[in-house]
Amino acid sequence: MKVVVIGAGVVGLSTAVCIQETYASCDVTVMSEKFPPEDIVSLVAGGLVVGTRGEFDTSDRIRAFIDTANYFTRLSFAENYQVHGVQMIDGCYCMATETYGEQLSEELMPISAASFRKVVPMSADECRDVMPYKPCSGWHVTSVCVDTRRYLPYLLNKFHRNGGHIKRCKVHSFSQVAQEYDVIINCTGLGSRELARDSNMYPVKGQLLKMETDKKVTDFLYFMNLSVKSDGSHTNFYYIPHGNEVVVGGSYDPDVENRSVDADLSRELEAMARQLHPVMKTGRVVKEYTGLRPVRRGILRIDKKIEVVDGKRTVIIHNYGQSQDGVAMSWGSALQVIELLAPELRINSRL
Ligand SMILES: Cc1cc2nc3c(=O)[nH]c(=O)nc-3n(C[C@H](O)[C@H](O)[C@H](O)COP(=O)(O)OP(=O)(O)OC[C@H]3O[C@@H](n4cnc5c(N)ncnc54)[C@H](O)[C@@H]3O)c2cc1C
Ligand SMILES: *[C@@H]1O[C@H](CO)[C@@H](O)[C@H](O)[C@H]1NC(C)=O
Ligand SMILES: *[C@@H]1O[C@H](CO)[C@@H](O)[C@H](O)[C@H]1NC(C)=O
Ligand SMILES: *[C@@H]1O[C@H](CO)[C@@H](O)[C@H](O)[C@H]1NC(C)=O
Repeated sequence: MKVVVIGAGVVGLSTAVCIQETYASCDVTVMSEKFPPEDIVSLVAGGLVVGTRGEFDTSDRIRAFIDTANYFTRLSFAENYQVHGVQMIDGCYCMATETYGEQLSEELMPISAASFRKVVPMSADECRDVMPYKPCSGWHVTSVCVDTRRYLPYLLNKFHRNGGHIKRCKVHSFSQVAQEYDVIINCTGLGSRELARDSNMYPVKGQLLKMETDKKVTDFLYFMNLSVKSDGSHTNFYYIPHGNEVVVGGSYDPDVENRSVDADLSRELEAMARQLHPVMKTGRVVKEYTGLRPVRRGILRIDKKIEVVDGKRTVIIHNYGQSQDGVAMSWGSALQVIELLAPELRINSRL
């Protein structure tokens, strides 16, 4: 069966490799406008696998987070960090509250917590240590962090080794690919706005900076809602180690397409990082950058439809709208595509 995956971000590449590894009889092609290391939002991600709570936490959404966290945990033990960029790290997951160290309900825990190695509520003193400027509460957790600048090339290598093909082009319409493939999988992220004419998709700009430090930063901090502005945008604050560097972020600006770096925001993030972490105090900012999260109103879209084009039966599977959690949902989303694909293999083998 010939399958084409459109999109070479973390969602597309995970889907392509997962299909190869599950169904050896599938001949898989990844078709994309851009491939890593080109400018793809998956390469901008901080790569923390936490799982934000949403308005629509369907069982499929929750399952995607937990499956992905389990997969990354296994991977972090299986091979070397230099090879795949996936590591288990200790950190704090906190949010602004009225007073320090409040007892938070389980509903506020990150979704992936179900597969974390450690989840322990922080005391008021520990919270004060982490964030002296704003009362907060949270948990000590051990989670997974993915440096996508290593992980995407790792997936792409794996895809090639498994006999996959790549094609560089922009896909404008379904008919462009329908004749050549039995199954088409849309993993185009924000590209689905045009491709799937999905008006529920919108960009949410995020800005980050990268610091080089003399010593390695070995823990992470994810602080939600440091400030919330009246226009609905908010600034989370996080630092996440990527090898010898540390990523510091980040903003969340809905409907902003303009990817210019806001210099004032960079200086704020830098100052906060220097104040909060002794190792970053003397760090050097080496890069400031932005990306657009492919956010979908409502829920992420993983579904299937069948079309007959010029007498040929073609299956289209959508896999997009992972929003601010594309890394944290990547492998789990791919596994859900696998489930949709299973009956197609049976039908195809009968033809
Ligand atoms: C600042 C910031 C921090 C983030 N931090 C995290 C984090 O800590 N954890 C986390 O899980 N997520 C995080 N994210 C979100 C994450 O980056 C995204 O959810 C994820 O990268 C989406 O992956 P994707 O594969 O769907 O899309 P993309 O990476 O955008 O890939 C889409 C692919 O489709 C191709 N394409 C698009 N349209 C077409 C077309 N018409 N024809 C052919 N090819 C096409 C593109 O070239 C590209 O290869 C962050 C995002 C930002 C901006
Ligand atoms: C992606 O899905 C949308 C909606 O079904 C469809 O209109 C579009 O043609 C698809 N594109 C490809 C290349 O499959
Ligand atoms: C953080 O702010 C966003 C946007 O205002 C809001 O939707 C969310 O509920 C807030 N989360 C917490 C934990 O306060
Ligand atoms: C783009 O964003 C930058 C940084 O926030 C801002 O200074 C600039 O005015 C914006 N440009 C446009 C055209 O909105």
